[in-house]
Amino acid sequence: MTSLTGKSSLSVSKGPAGRAIAEHMEDALVEAFQQHLTMERNASAAYFAIAIWFAERELRGFAEFFKNEAKSEQEHACKFADYLIARGQTVLLQELPAPRQNWSSPQEILEASFQMEADVTTSLNQLYAIAERSSDMRTTVFLDPTIDSQINSENDFAHLMGRVKFANDQPSAMLIIDGELSEGKHSPAKLA
Ligand SMILES: [Fe+2]
Repeated sequence: MTSLTGKSSLSVSKGPAGRAIAEHMEDALVEAFQQHLTMERNASAAYFAIAIWFAERELRGFAEFFKNEAKSEQEHACKFADYLIARGQTVLLQELPAPRQNWSSPQEILEASFQMEADVTTSLNQLYAIAERSSDMRTTVFLDPTIDSQINSENDFAHLMGRVKFANDQPSAMLIIDGELSEGKHSPAKLA
């Protein structure tokens, strides 16, 4: 409440950045959020490097697919930064290592990508567990749709990995998959 003189009669808690905070966020949870944000930025750099690898080998559909994945990982990092700011926390950007650029085959890339998606899901689940332990309902609500879309990503990568394995390094088969990716077709069959 504000009095006629403009002075607030309530004392509002402030976070490290000086913004008002409605509910304290546990230190362990903030630290885990910072690490997860770094993981999303690393994933974005990794996918950008993979897009380049495919572009250099004339597989433009794969390059397009991984370029879009790089963008969406960057958007995830933005979402986590927005959330930390909304909760009155300071976003700490950590140094990123150079992404891997040497690969022996598309199959190896797809396997590594699937594993990276699975690791991101594990990290989200850990965040969820810490949020639940500290009864931070705002965070569990924030994480719910994120975990849901992460499971869809795992499914997409499993599908693409399966098709690339199917192609067995045959150029004609790889070009068919590449053409599908150029048309934005990267999801598994839907039976429902
Ligand atoms: Fe992500």
